[in-house]
Amino acid sequence: MDSDVKDLGLAPEGKKRIEWAERDMPVLRAVRERFEKEKPFAGKTLSAVLHVTAETANLVRTLKAGGANVFLAASNPLSTQDDVAAALVKEYGISTFAIKGESKETFFKHIETLIAQKPQLTMDDGADLVSTIHKSHSDLLPQLLGGTEETTTGVIRLRAMAKDGALKMPIVAVNDAKTKNLFDNRYGTGQSTLDGIIRATDMLLAGKTVVVAGYGWCGKGLAMRAKGMGAGVIVTEIDPIKALEAAMDGFYVTTMENAATVGDLFVTVTGNAKVITGDHFKKMKDGAVVCNSGHFDVEIDLVALQKLSNEVQKDVRKFVDQYTVGGKRIYVLAEGRLVNLAAAEGHPASVMDMSFSTQAQAAEWMSKQKGLKPGVYDVSEEIEQGIARLKLAAMGLTIDALTPEQQKYLESWQEGT
Ligand SMILES: NC(=O)c1ccc[n+]([C@@H]2O[C@H](COP(=O)([O-])OP(=O)(O)OC[C@H]3O[C@@H](n4cnc5c(N)ncnc54)[C@H](O)[C@@H]3O)[C@@H](O)[C@H]2O)c1
Repeated sequence: MDSDVKDLGLAPEGKKRIEWAERDMPVLRAVRERFEKEKPFAGKTLSAVLHVTAETANLVRTLKAGGANVFLAASNPLSTQDDVAAALVKEYGISTFAIKGESKETFFKHIETLIAQKPQLTMDDGADLVSTIHKSHSDLLPQLLGGTEETTTGVIRLRAMAKDGALKMPIVAVNDAKTKNLFDNRYGTGQSTLDGIIRATDMLLAGKTVVVAGYGWCGKGLAMRAKGMGAGVIVTEIDPIKALEAAMDGFYVTTMENAATVGDLFVTVTGNAKVITGDHFKKMKDGAVVCNSGHFDVEIDLVALQKLSNEVQKDVRKFVDQYTVGGKRIYVLAEGRLVNLAAAEGHPASVMDMSFSTQAQAAEWMSKQKGLKPGVYDVSEEIEQGIARLKLAAMGLTIDALTPEQQKYLESWQEGT
């Protein structure tokens, strides 16, 4: 079987990790059991560019159980778990192309390999697969049934393509499902980003000033968790509504220019570029730690930091680079890439259970469509409700049901106070 992973000898460790994650993914397990019977992807090739983690392994196993011929590559050069990649190839027979720390060239070579499989379905985390198909392999577009997209940044790119009339295939915006962003972006990123920072630095958060750039779903989770660990949290925003929300949630809101002078730890989660610039670095305190949990490594201007620095010491600790700017030390984690995936294990399985059950069923929905117009589609309410109900049941929680009288009341306009 064709594959490119670091070391197949790591497979036993990877298998253990995949099985451990699987215990916390009961909804995905239920989807897999149904897929095994119904084979919704029979005879179809699906190319997936995702973070190669234990949770993703359980997703691609589910797609394979549904009859898909699955090919997997990494959606970030630093996020691959090499033991998981090895186990996928050796234990589960899934062609995987991902090596932690791979060069940009290898990263794109792997994406090209996935395109060469001539898939009918795509699955993306950041839209790299779909944008490469559109840029360099448009001959493939007519045979594509469609795809799915996992993250905010990918959906933003796809909507921009759709607006320009450049998007030539249908894609489901999995990220925009409530069963994804309310939980994965908020609680997953909130916890795993702090996990990555702590593993990389061994920093005590209590008493520190943490600056969170961006108060979207990820930023909210992160600010909430940092506060819970005793940090004083400052939020920077460009959206007045989000900024107000942050202020009323109890965070101090100011500009990055102001925050730069007081922060001990800076985390960007905006999905935007150059949020921390050279001017900000110049104002930072000695020992400031800077990292990113947004999708691309463009949020921190590392080129500007490099230019300002008298000295750069790589790997003063694993995933920590030290830049000296006029006698002050600034520490950058994971080269400005997603710190939760580079320095920790990404989101816990329990939350990816919901995201990946949404992914799997969105892909199933897409595979059943015929002649769907190019565009960005939402996950259906039916899929979302089904996942939430299964997750509640797995957590041993029950909820009330509307009585016929309540149903009637909610639907009528004649009944007054
Ligand atoms: N680390 C992970 O595992 C993980 C998980 C989910 C999403 N993401 C990524 O995290 C990023 C944020 O996702 P989200 O779902 O929170 O998006 P979101 O759109 O809900 O929030 C982003 C926020 O950043 C703000 N913003 C934009 N430019 C800014 C600037 N210059 N300064 C301050 N604030 C700014 C926006 O106003 C918005 O409120 C995306 O790139 C997404 O793909 C990462």
